[in-house]
Amino acid sequence: MHPNRDRVNILLVDDQPSKLLSYEVVLEELGENLIKAASGKEALAQLLRREFAVILVDVAMPELDGFELAAMIREHPRFEQTAIIFVSAVHLSEFDSLRGYRAGAVDYLQVPIVPDLLRAKVRIFCDLYRKTRQLEALNEELERRVEARTAELAAANVDLEKRVEARTREREEALAQVAEMQKLEGLGQLTGGVAHDFNNLLMVVMSNLEMALSRVAEDALLTRWLGRAMEAATRGAALTKRMLAFARRQDLKPESLALSDVVSGMVEMMSHSLGPSVRIAVDLPPDLPPIRIDRNQLELALLNLGLNARDAMPNGGELLIKARTADEAHLPDKLAPGCYVHLLVVDTGLGMDVETLKRASEPFFSTKPMGKGSGLGLSMVHGLTLQSGGTMHIASRPNEGTSVSLWLPVGQDPVLAGRTLDAPGRVESAVRRVLLVDDDPLVLAATADMLRELGHETIETTSAKKALEVLGAGERPDLAILDYAMPEMSGSALAELIHEIHPGLPLLLATGYSEREKAGGRLPRLNKPYTLAELDRQIGLLSSARATIAS
Ligand SMILES: Nc1ncnc2c1ncn2[C@@H]1O[C@H](COP(=O)(O)OP(=O)(O)OP(=O)(O)O)[C@@H](O)[C@H]1O
Ligand SMILES: [Mg+2]
Repeated sequence: MHPNRDRVNILLVDDQPSKLLSYEVVLEELGENLIKAASGKEALAQLLRREFAVILVDVAMPELDGFELAAMIREHPRFEQTAIIFVSAVHLSEFDSLRGYRAGAVDYLQVPIVPDLLRAKVRIFCDLYRKTRQLEALNEELERRVEARTAELAAANVDLEKRVEARTREREEALAQVAEMQKLEGLGQLTGGVAHDFNNLLMVVMSNLEMALSRVAEDALLTRWLGRAMEAATRGAALTKRMLAFARRQDLKPESLALSDVVSGMVEMMSHSLGPSVRIAVDLPPDLPPIRIDRNQLELALLNLGLNARDAMPNGGELLIKARTADEAHLPDKLAPGCYVHLLVVDTGLGMDVETLKRASEPFFSTKPMGKGSGLGLSMVHGLTLQSGGTMHIASRPNEGTSVSLWLPVGQDPVLAGRTLDAPGRVESAVRRVLLVDDDPLVLAATADMLRELGHETIETTSAKKALEVLGAGERPDLAILDYAMPEMSGSALAELIHEIHPGLPLLLATGYSEREKAGGRLPRLNKPYTLAELDRQIGLLSSARATIAS
């Protein structure tokens, strides 16, 4: 009859079996479950067993009458809402009806029963019961879905929070990196500036010491004192060199080099400096491509790394110098794409904790006792690799040794065999009139003295403008030495002007830190601080070059 519908239970309560039967017949066609009880007691037993949509109760029953039964049913919370219909054979007074309603009845039927009426009433309550259950089920489902959705949202929220946290962390790390870079950049500028000024001072100190030394040969004590001062100034010059290296402002002479050449040339020297307790192992494949870098500076870098390793291995250990052609697919982020040689200097020493590792390549950072470390070793190495177009990375852990990685760009030019750098040696030079341009009066005077000491004549000017005036006034020097870093007009700009006016005049650029490209790549250079011999040699070279061109 109603195939898609849940059947509900109807409880029929009457002490007379014939009446129970007649109700059954009348209600059968509703298609619900009819359960019969012959007494109030039996009815209660049934109620304990299952849910009922409608209870049909005879009012007049022995033992427990309909009203009493209804009141008991209503007491039970499960049946608070169940429809109770009373059936009464006797006419009910108004009073009785009220009593029945109070006991929880929802309707009354008189005997004899009108079958259609009974069916209609019971059907309404059955449907009501079903609808209520459906509504409850819907409500439950809704609640369940709300719960599920809430849980989903909560999970999404947690995920979002995690992502926000991760992003914040990434951002903080990036900011810290930028701050670190800015700090190093600032330090670089400061260091470079200080080093440049010190270079000028050292230049004055050293040139004067050198001249003084050349005059006091007969006074042993004075010679010793001046010699000591010279030694200290030379050390100072080495220090400023490392500072300039860190600031990436040193004057590099990159050339194509076979790394194996450089390393094998260094190993013996290093084994002396590192002492017998450090074993040096070298692992370089024969097919390593040439690298492009300043040879002297690379040697200095290797020495610095070696000394650091020695200091980290007070009880001895192994220093491994190893190189491979870098895998181009796995270069450090900071590197431009290209070919590199990956050089590793690995020790088995004490290693570094996180804090030390973080600051190791900062200039002036040192954990060594006062007077032992200037904290410029790694900064020099780092500065050199950066200025050469490579980079440096350090990996280290306490008690697990240290591994310093250098990525050095592969050179394109043919490799020069061995050392080709400025072979020292005096080139004879005749007396020259030299135009000197330097904005620092001390440096100017010192250089002038050196030139005179070498037997030359000088015309001294303190700016590009004054130099041009002198030339304009008809002075004809044989040579001009120009300071690179001058306010208003740099030495290289002045060189260009002079070249236009006097195309044949040989020029020397005196430079402490000129970045190569800035300082006009092709002019011969004098690196500050320079010695008497170096000055003499450069002048000699210029003169012989001019002689070659002239002949
Ligand atoms: N191989 C290493 N093993 C352990 N710690 C190292 C190593 N290399 C460097 N460090 C740490 O990094 C710091 C900085 O090194 P860096 O070479 O720049 O300066 P330094 O060796 O202290 O002084 P300098 O090299 O100027 O004489 C060192 O003081 C040391 O704490
Ligand atoms: Mg060092």
